[in-house]
Amino acid sequence: MANKFRVFATCDIGPSLNILRERGYQLEVYPDPKAPPKSLILEKVRSGMDGLITTLRDQIDAEVFEAGKGSLKVVAQLAVGFDNINRDDANKHKVPFTHTADVLTEATAEFAFFMLGTLARKMWPAEHLTRDNQWGFWHPYLPFLGDEVTGKTIAIIGTGRIGLAMIKKCAGFDMNILCYDPAYQNLEYITAVQEVMDLRHARGMQKEKTSIKYVSFAESLKLADFVSVHVPLLREGESDTPTFHLFNERTLRMMKPTAFLVNTSRGPVVDESALARALKENGIAGAALDVYEKEPLPADSPLRDPAIADRCRLMPHFASAAKITRLSPDPNKGMAGRCVQGLIDVLEKNYGGDVKKMPYVVNKEAF
Ligand code: GLV
Repeated sequence: MANKFRVFATCDIGPSLNILRERGYQLEVYPDPKAPPKSLILEKVRSGMDGLITTLRDQIDAEVFEAGKGSLKVVAQLAVGFDNINRDDANKHKVPFTHTADVLTEATAEFAFFMLGTLARKMWPAEHLTRDNQWGFWHPYLPFLGDEVTGKTIAIIGTGRIGLAMIKKCAGFDMNILCYDPAYQNLEYITAVQEVMDLRHARGMQKEKTSIKYVSFAESLKLADFVSVHVPLLREGESDTPTFHLFNERTLRMMKPTAFLVNTSRGPVVDESALARALKENGIAGAALDVYEKEPLPADSPLRDPAIADRCRLMPHFASAAKITRLSPDPNKGMAGRCVQGLIDVLEKNYGGDVKKMPYVVNKEAF
Protein backbone atom coordinates (compact mmCIF):
# COMPACT_ATOMS: atom_id res chain seq x y z
CA MET A 1 0.00 0.00 0.00
CA ALA A 2 1.54 3.34 -0.98
CA ASN A 3 0.40 5.86 1.57
CA LYS A 4 1.79 9.31 1.08
CA PHE A 5 0.99 10.51 4.56
CA ARG A 6 3.58 12.88 5.97
CA VAL A 7 4.45 12.33 9.59
CA PHE A 8 6.88 14.16 11.89
CA ALA A 9 8.11 12.27 14.95
CA THR A 10 9.55 14.60 17.58
CA CYS A 11 11.86 11.79 18.63
CA ASP A 12 12.97 8.35 17.55
CA ILE A 13 10.55 5.83 19.08
CA GLY A 14 12.46 2.81 17.79
CA PRO A 15 11.81 0.01 15.28
CA SER A 16 8.02 0.50 15.35
CA LEU A 17 8.57 3.43 12.99
CA ASN A 18 9.46 0.92 10.28
CA ILE A 19 5.79 -0.06 10.22
CA LEU A 20 5.10 3.41 8.84
CA ARG A 21 8.05 3.34 6.43
CA GLU A 22 6.92 -0.03 5.07
CA ARG A 23 3.48 1.42 4.46
CA GLY A 24 4.97 4.16 2.33
CA TYR A 25 4.63 7.01 4.80
CA GLN A 26 6.97 9.96 4.39
CA LEU A 27 8.42 9.99 7.84
CA GLU A 28 10.70 12.62 9.34
CA VAL A 29 12.26 11.86 12.70
CA TYR A 30 13.90 14.52 14.86
CA PRO A 31 17.34 13.00 15.35
CA ASP A 32 18.40 14.62 18.62
CA PRO A 33 17.67 12.79 21.91
CA LYS A 34 16.54 16.11 23.38
CA ALA A 35 13.11 17.52 22.51
CA PRO A 36 12.93 19.76 19.43
CA PRO A 37 12.25 23.45 19.97
CA LYS A 38 8.60 24.43 19.61
CA SER A 39 9.57 26.58 16.61
CA LEU A 40 10.69 23.45 14.73
CA ILE A 41 7.47 21.60 15.50
CA LEU A 42 5.54 24.61 14.20
CA GLU A 43 7.68 24.76 11.07
CA LYS A 44 7.16 21.06 10.37
CA VAL A 45 3.43 21.22 10.98
CA ARG A 46 3.13 24.31 8.78
CA SER A 47 4.86 22.42 5.98
CA GLY A 48 1.80 20.15 5.77
CA MET A 49 2.32 17.17 8.10
CA ASP A 50 -0.67 14.81 8.31
CA GLY A 51 0.44 13.39 11.62
CA LEU A 52 2.66 14.16 14.59
CA ILE A 53 4.27 11.65 16.93
CA THR A 54 4.88 13.38 20.25
CA THR A 55 6.18 12.76 23.74
CA LEU A 56 5.33 14.42 27.02
CA ARG A 57 8.21 16.88 26.38
CA ASP A 58 6.35 18.63 23.55
CA GLN A 59 3.83 21.40 24.21
CA ILE A 60 0.98 20.76 21.78
CA ASP A 61 -1.42 23.68 21.94
CA ALA A 62 -3.46 26.18 19.88
CA GLU A 63 -0.33 27.43 18.10
CA VAL A 64 0.44 23.94 16.80
CA PHE A 65 -3.14 23.18 15.77
CA GLU A 66 -3.40 26.60 14.13
CA ALA A 67 -0.18 25.89 12.19
CA GLY A 68 -1.61 22.55 11.08
CA LYS A 69 -4.97 23.93 9.90
CA GLY A 70 -6.12 22.03 6.83
CA SER A 71 -3.44 19.35 7.03
CA LEU A 72 -2.81 18.05 10.58
CA LYS A 73 -5.10 15.08 11.14
CA VAL A 74 -3.72 13.36 14.23
CA VAL A 75 -1.34 13.74 17.16
CA ALA A 76 -0.09 10.38 18.44
CA GLN A 77 1.44 10.63 21.90
CA LEU A 78 3.92 8.09 23.22
CA ALA A 79 2.62 8.13 26.82
CA VAL A 80 -0.49 7.43 28.79
CA GLY A 81 -0.47 10.96 30.25
CA PHE A 82 -1.25 13.85 27.93
CA ASP A 83 -1.10 16.97 30.08
CA ASN A 84 1.29 18.43 27.47
CA ILE A 85 -1.55 18.38 24.91
CA ASN A 86 -4.21 21.04 25.27
CA ARG A 87 -7.40 19.05 24.92
CA ASP A 88 -9.64 22.10 24.40
CA ASP A 89 -7.39 23.34 21.60
CA ALA A 90 -7.35 19.89 19.97
CA ASN A 91 -11.14 19.75 20.21
CA LYS A 92 -11.58 23.25 18.80
CA HIS A 93 -9.54 22.23 15.78
CA LYS A 94 -11.16 18.78 15.66
CA VAL A 95 -7.82 17.00 15.71
CA PRO A 96 -7.95 13.62 17.43
CA PHE A 97 -5.04 12.73 19.68
CA THR A 98 -4.10 9.25 20.83
CA HIS A 99 -2.22 7.89 23.83
CA THR A 100 -0.69 4.59 24.91
CA ALA A 101 -2.71 3.60 27.96
CA ASP A 102 -2.73 -0.01 29.22
CA VAL A 103 0.60 -1.18 27.80
CA LEU A 104 2.56 0.59 30.54
CA THR A 105 0.19 -0.11 33.41
CA GLU A 106 1.98 -3.08 34.96
CA ALA A 107 5.47 -1.68 34.30
CA THR A 108 4.59 1.60 36.02
CA ALA A 109 2.91 -0.12 38.96
CA GLU A 110 5.81 -2.51 39.51
CA PHE A 111 8.25 0.38 39.37
CA ALA A 112 6.22 2.28 41.97
CA PHE A 113 6.29 -0.81 44.14
CA PHE A 114 10.04 -1.30 43.71
CA MET A 115 10.64 2.37 44.57
CA LEU A 116 8.54 1.88 47.68
CA GLY A 117 10.59 -1.15 48.68
CA THR A 118 13.92 0.53 47.92
CA LEU A 119 12.90 3.49 50.06
CA ALA A 120 11.43 1.58 52.99
CA ARG A 121 14.27 -0.95 53.27
CA LYS A 122 16.91 1.78 52.84
CA MET A 123 18.58 -0.03 49.96
CA TRP A 124 20.28 3.10 48.64
CA PRO A 125 22.06 4.06 51.90
CA ALA A 126 22.72 0.36 52.55
CA GLU A 127 24.46 -0.08 49.21
CA HIS A 128 26.43 3.08 49.87
CA LEU A 129 27.71 1.54 53.10
CA THR A 130 29.08 -1.36 51.10
CA ARG A 131 30.44 0.64 48.18
CA ASP A 132 31.97 3.38 50.33
CA ASN A 133 33.69 0.77 52.49
CA GLN A 134 31.74 1.87 55.56
CA TRP A 135 30.40 -1.62 56.32
CA GLY A 136 32.67 -2.31 59.25
CA PHE A 137 30.59 -4.84 61.22
CA TRP A 138 27.29 -6.73 61.27
CA HIS A 139 25.11 -5.37 64.08
CA PRO A 140 21.47 -5.97 65.09
CA TYR A 141 20.44 -2.35 64.53
CA LEU A 142 23.43 -0.21 63.62
CA PRO A 143 23.96 1.93 61.65
CA PHE A 144 20.24 1.94 60.76
CA LEU A 145 17.22 -0.25 60.11
CA GLY A 146 14.60 -0.14 57.41
CA ASP A 147 10.83 -0.56 57.63
CA GLU A 148 9.04 -3.75 56.54
CA VAL A 149 6.48 -3.46 53.78
CA THR A 150 4.68 -6.78 54.31
CA GLY A 151 1.57 -6.37 56.44
CA LYS A 152 1.61 -2.56 56.41
CA THR A 153 -1.12 -0.19 55.22
CA ILE A 154 -0.92 1.62 51.90
CA ALA A 155 -3.07 4.44 50.58
CA ILE A 156 -3.61 4.29 46.83
CA ILE A 157 -4.41 7.81 45.65
CA GLY A 158 -6.14 7.40 42.30
CA THR A 159 -7.72 4.12 41.25
CA GLY A 160 -7.41 4.31 37.49
CA ARG A 161 -5.53 1.64 35.56
CA ILE A 162 -2.16 2.10 37.28
CA GLY A 163 -3.62 2.53 40.76
CA LEU A 164 -5.54 -0.74 40.35
CA ALA A 165 -2.41 -2.53 39.13
CA MET A 166 -0.52 -1.17 42.16
CA ILE A 167 -3.29 -2.56 44.39
CA LYS A 168 -2.63 -6.03 42.93
CA LYS A 169 1.09 -5.80 43.72
CA CYS A 170 0.38 -4.56 47.26
CA ALA A 171 -2.18 -7.30 47.92
CA GLY A 172 0.58 -9.81 47.08
CA PHE A 173 2.61 -8.32 49.94
CA ASP A 174 -0.23 -8.84 52.45
CA MET A 175 -0.81 -5.10 52.73
CA ASN A 176 -3.99 -3.44 53.94
CA ILE A 177 -5.19 -1.09 51.25
CA LEU A 178 -6.99 2.24 51.57
CA CYS A 179 -8.23 3.63 48.28
CA TYR A 180 -9.03 7.22 47.47
CA ASP A 181 -10.06 8.62 44.13
CA PRO A 182 -11.41 12.14 43.67
CA ALA A 183 -13.52 11.18 40.66
CA TYR A 184 -14.10 7.47 40.29
CA GLN A 185 -14.53 4.33 42.40
CA ASN A 186 -14.11 0.78 41.10
CA LEU A 187 -16.04 -1.14 43.75
CA GLU A 188 -16.17 -4.31 41.68
CA TYR A 189 -12.38 -4.46 41.54
CA ILE A 190 -11.87 -3.89 45.24
CA THR A 191 -14.52 -6.51 46.06
CA ALA A 192 -12.55 -8.99 43.93
CA VAL A 193 -9.29 -8.04 45.70
CA GLN A 194 -10.98 -8.56 49.09
CA GLU A 195 -12.06 -12.04 47.94
CA VAL A 196 -8.47 -12.85 46.97
CA MET A 197 -7.21 -11.54 50.34
CA ASP A 198 -9.76 -13.67 52.20
CA LEU A 199 -8.84 -16.76 50.18
CA ARG A 200 -5.11 -16.27 50.81
CA HIS A 201 -5.84 -16.00 54.52
CA ALA A 202 -8.20 -19.01 54.54
CA ARG A 203 -5.59 -21.13 52.73
CA GLY A 204 -2.83 -20.10 55.15
CA MET A 205 -0.88 -18.10 52.57
CA GLN A 206 -0.95 -14.97 54.72
CA LYS A 207 -0.97 -14.93 58.51
CA GLU A 208 -3.07 -11.84 59.18
CA LYS A 209 -6.39 -10.98 57.65
CA THR A 210 -6.11 -7.93 55.38
CA SER A 211 -8.67 -5.55 53.94
CA ILE A 212 -9.28 -3.08 51.13
CA LYS A 213 -11.75 -0.19 51.12
CA TYR A 214 -12.43 3.28 49.76
CA VAL A 215 -11.96 6.05 52.32
CA SER A 216 -11.72 9.85 52.29
CA PHE A 217 -8.46 11.55 51.34
CA ALA A 218 -7.98 12.71 54.94
CA GLU A 219 -8.51 9.24 56.34
CA SER A 220 -6.15 7.64 53.81
CA LEU A 221 -3.37 10.07 54.77
CA LYS A 222 -4.00 9.70 58.48
CA LEU A 223 -3.82 5.90 58.52
CA ALA A 224 -1.34 4.93 55.81
CA ASP A 225 2.25 3.75 56.28
CA PHE A 226 2.79 4.28 52.55
CA VAL A 227 1.02 6.64 50.16
CA SER A 228 1.29 5.95 46.43
CA VAL A 229 0.04 8.55 43.96
CA HIS A 230 -1.65 7.55 40.67
CA VAL A 231 -3.79 10.52 39.63
CA PRO A 232 -3.59 12.46 36.37
CA LEU A 233 -2.40 16.07 36.56
CA LEU A 234 -5.45 18.31 36.47
CA ARG A 235 -4.92 22.00 37.06
CA GLU A 236 -7.45 24.44 38.52
CA GLY A 237 -10.19 25.00 35.94
CA GLU A 238 -9.49 21.74 34.11
CA SER A 239 -11.62 19.64 36.45
CA ASP A 240 -13.98 19.85 39.42
CA THR A 241 -11.39 17.77 41.26
CA PRO A 242 -8.01 19.32 40.38
CA THR A 243 -4.90 17.43 41.47
CA PHE A 244 -2.30 20.20 41.15
CA HIS A 245 -0.41 20.33 44.49
CA LEU A 246 -2.78 17.75 46.00
CA PHE A 247 0.21 17.08 48.24
CA ASN A 248 1.14 20.39 49.86
CA GLU A 249 2.23 21.80 53.20
CA ARG A 250 -1.18 21.07 54.75
CA THR A 251 -1.84 17.61 53.33
CA LEU A 252 1.73 16.37 53.87
CA ARG A 253 1.20 17.26 57.52
CA MET A 254 -1.78 14.92 57.61
CA MET A 255 0.53 11.96 56.93
CA LYS A 256 2.10 10.00 59.78
CA PRO A 257 5.70 11.06 60.57
CA THR A 258 6.62 7.41 59.93
CA ALA A 259 4.94 7.31 56.51
CA PHE A 260 6.48 7.27 53.02
CA LEU A 261 5.25 8.99 49.86
CA VAL A 262 5.71 7.50 46.37
CA ASN A 263 4.89 9.50 43.23
CA THR A 264 4.95 7.98 39.75
CA SER A 265 2.09 10.12 38.39
CA ARG A 266 2.95 13.72 37.50
CA GLY A 267 5.35 16.02 39.32
CA PRO A 268 3.07 19.01 39.89
CA VAL A 269 0.70 16.83 41.93
CA VAL A 270 3.27 17.29 44.72
CA ASP A 271 4.50 20.68 45.94
CA GLU A 272 8.22 19.90 45.93
CA SER A 273 9.30 22.74 48.24
CA ALA A 274 6.74 21.62 50.81
CA LEU A 275 7.90 18.02 50.41
CA ALA A 276 11.58 18.90 50.84
CA ARG A 277 10.66 20.82 54.01
CA ALA A 278 8.57 17.92 55.33
CA LEU A 279 11.50 15.54 54.76
CA LYS A 280 14.01 17.89 56.36
CA GLU A 281 11.82 18.43 59.42
CA ASN A 282 10.97 14.70 59.67
CA GLY A 283 7.30 15.47 59.03
CA ILE A 284 7.26 12.25 56.98
CA ALA A 285 9.78 9.42 56.89
CA GLY A 286 10.66 9.43 53.21
CA ALA A 287 9.68 9.96 49.61
CA ALA A 288 10.44 8.27 46.31
CA LEU A 289 9.76 10.32 43.19
CA ASP A 290 9.87 9.50 39.50
CA VAL A 291 8.28 12.73 38.28
CA TYR A 292 8.92 16.39 39.02
CA GLU A 293 7.41 19.84 38.74
CA LYS A 294 10.13 20.59 36.21
CA GLU A 295 11.86 17.84 34.24
CA PRO A 296 14.72 17.11 34.09
CA LEU A 297 15.08 17.92 37.80
CA PRO A 298 16.90 21.28 38.10
CA ALA A 299 20.36 21.36 39.67
CA ASP A 300 19.15 23.65 42.45
CA SER A 301 16.09 21.59 43.41
CA PRO A 302 15.59 21.43 47.21
CA LEU A 303 15.01 17.70 46.72
CA ARG A 304 18.73 17.35 46.06
CA ASP A 305 19.61 18.57 49.57
CA PRO A 306 22.23 16.09 50.85
CA ALA A 307 20.62 16.33 54.31
CA ILE A 308 17.63 14.31 53.03
CA ALA A 309 19.44 12.03 50.57
CA ASP A 310 19.04 8.95 52.76
CA ARG A 311 15.23 9.24 52.67
CA CYS A 312 14.54 10.75 49.28
CA ARG A 313 14.85 8.55 46.19
CA LEU A 314 14.92 10.41 42.90
CA MET A 315 14.33 8.55 39.62
CA PRO A 316 14.49 10.08 36.10
CA HIS A 317 10.84 9.62 34.93
CA PHE A 318 11.67 5.98 34.44
CA ALA A 319 8.61 3.96 35.51
CA SER A 320 7.64 2.85 32.00
CA ALA A 321 11.27 2.56 30.91
CA ALA A 322 11.42 -1.18 30.25
CA LYS A 323 12.30 -2.71 26.91
CA ILE A 324 9.06 -4.37 25.84
CA THR A 325 6.90 -1.70 27.46
CA ARG A 326 8.60 1.14 25.63
CA LEU A 327 9.57 -0.37 22.29
CA SER A 328 7.54 -3.43 21.28
CA PRO A 329 5.90 -2.89 17.88
CA ASP A 330 3.00 -5.05 19.11
CA PRO A 331 0.27 -2.53 20.00
CA ASN A 332 -0.87 -4.85 22.78
CA LYS A 333 2.55 -4.82 24.41
CA GLY A 334 4.53 -1.71 23.58
CA MET A 335 3.99 2.03 23.79
CA ALA A 336 5.73 2.56 20.44
CA GLY A 337 3.57 -0.08 18.74
CA ARG A 338 0.41 1.38 20.22
CA CYS A 339 1.45 4.93 19.31
CA VAL A 340 2.03 3.95 15.68
CA GLN A 341 -1.24 2.00 15.53
CA GLY A 342 -3.15 4.98 16.95
CA LEU A 343 -1.71 7.17 14.21
CA ILE A 344 -2.52 4.62 11.49
CA ASP A 345 -6.09 4.18 12.76
CA VAL A 346 -6.82 7.87 12.27
CA LEU A 347 -4.90 8.49 9.03
CA GLU A 348 -6.07 5.33 7.30
CA LYS A 349 -9.63 5.71 8.58
CA ASN A 350 -9.83 2.35 10.34
CA TYR A 351 -13.07 1.57 12.18
CA GLY A 352 -14.97 2.92 9.19
CA GLY A 353 -13.31 6.28 9.83
CA ASP A 354 -15.30 6.66 13.05
CA VAL A 355 -12.92 8.35 15.50
CA LYS A 356 -15.26 7.53 18.38
CA LYS A 357 -14.66 3.82 17.80
CA MET A 358 -10.86 4.08 17.68
CA PRO A 359 -9.54 2.59 20.92
CA TYR A 360 -6.49 4.80 21.38
CA VAL A 361 -8.10 8.16 20.63
CA VAL A 362 -8.50 10.25 23.80
CA ASN A 363 -10.67 13.24 22.83
CA LYS A 364 -13.63 11.32 21.42
CA GLU A 365 -16.00 13.99 22.72
CA ALA A 366 -14.96 16.33 19.90
CA PHE A 367 -16.35 14.03 17.18
C1 GLV B 1 4.57 8.63 31.35
O1 GLV B 1 4.72 9.40 32.22
C2 GLV B 1 3.36 8.45 30.62
O2 GLV B 1 2.43 9.24 30.80
O3 GLV B 1 3.31 7.53 29.80
